[in-house]
Amino acid sequence: MIQLKRFSHAAFETPDVERQVDYFAQVLGLAVAGKQNGHVHLATRMGDLAVQVNKASAAACTKLSFQVDPSTPLADIRKGLDAEGIKSEARSDAAPGIPKAIVFKDPKGTEIEVFAEQTAIAGNQPVAGIGPIKLGHLAFCVDDPKRYADFYCKVLGFRVSDWIQDWFVFLRCGPDHHTINFVQGKRTIMHHVAFELKDWAQVQQAMDFLGSKNINLAWGPGRHGPGHNIYTYHRNPDDQIIELFTELDKMLDESLGYFEPRPWHRDHPQRPKVWDNRRDIWGMPPTADYIRQRE
Ligand SMILES: [Fe+2]
Repeated sequence: MIQLKRFSHAAFETPDVERQVDYFAQVLGLAVAGKQNGHVHLATRMGDLAVQVNKASAAACTKLSFQVDPSTPLADIRKGLDAEGIKSEARSDAAPGIPKAIVFKDPKGTEIEVFAEQTAIAGNQPVAGIGPIKLGHLAFCVDDPKRYADFYCKVLGFRVSDWIQDWFVFLRCGPDHHTINFVQGKRTIMHHVAFELKDWAQVQQAMDFLGSKNINLAWGPGRHGPGHNIYTYHRNPDDQIIELFTELDKMLDESLGYFEPRPWHRDHPQRPKVWDNRRDIWGMPPTADYIRQRE
């Protein structure tokens, strides 16, 4: 089993590279860090690679890239995947600062890239727009969330943080409550991509900034039950849902098995569990614009 440490970045195909890069740079507030192998790479204001963009006929999230312990030999990862009957290949210079990676596909064909060593691609830099502190998580609509949760736990070492009934699963690969989610949907498609903001003050600034650009919220703000993050959602020009969040639960010690205590938790200690459908701590119900992503 691969033991992931960190979610690094995601790749997005788009029919309009200029428009998508303009959104990520001028609205979301990432910095264009360069172009390589036909991809435009964007980093956070601290210089961490977060997003790759390249041209295709339709908008889609096509790759998730994760880091393992830097001392892990990549050959061992390939051997482990071979033993599980999963075909993989070695990739050189997959992205700036990542000289070597192993790539394979999950059951829906999304590329999973795993690398050990990474060098920073930029330093602290001013950005336009919102300026998130990191890429937080990706959620996908799939036909059978349990099947995907089992694959990600068995092959990539994820742990289940929470379920909403049997149709939405939250998986973690580090302290953050969730890094990958699977939600039952009629199509196999990205549900949303989430970026972490520093605090409430930045959420407020972000909402005012989106308002100044006439970008309406698709849902929120509110505080979720699973993960207990403050959430807001809007759509980018490719009609993809972008979440901006803060105050996500963290499990700092896996052996204790509970999330760090917070005043808004209704359970103490807050352990992974199955939530019912009334899962938000506060906020309005999901809007039709949010719900349509699963249809
Ligand atoms: Fe989310």
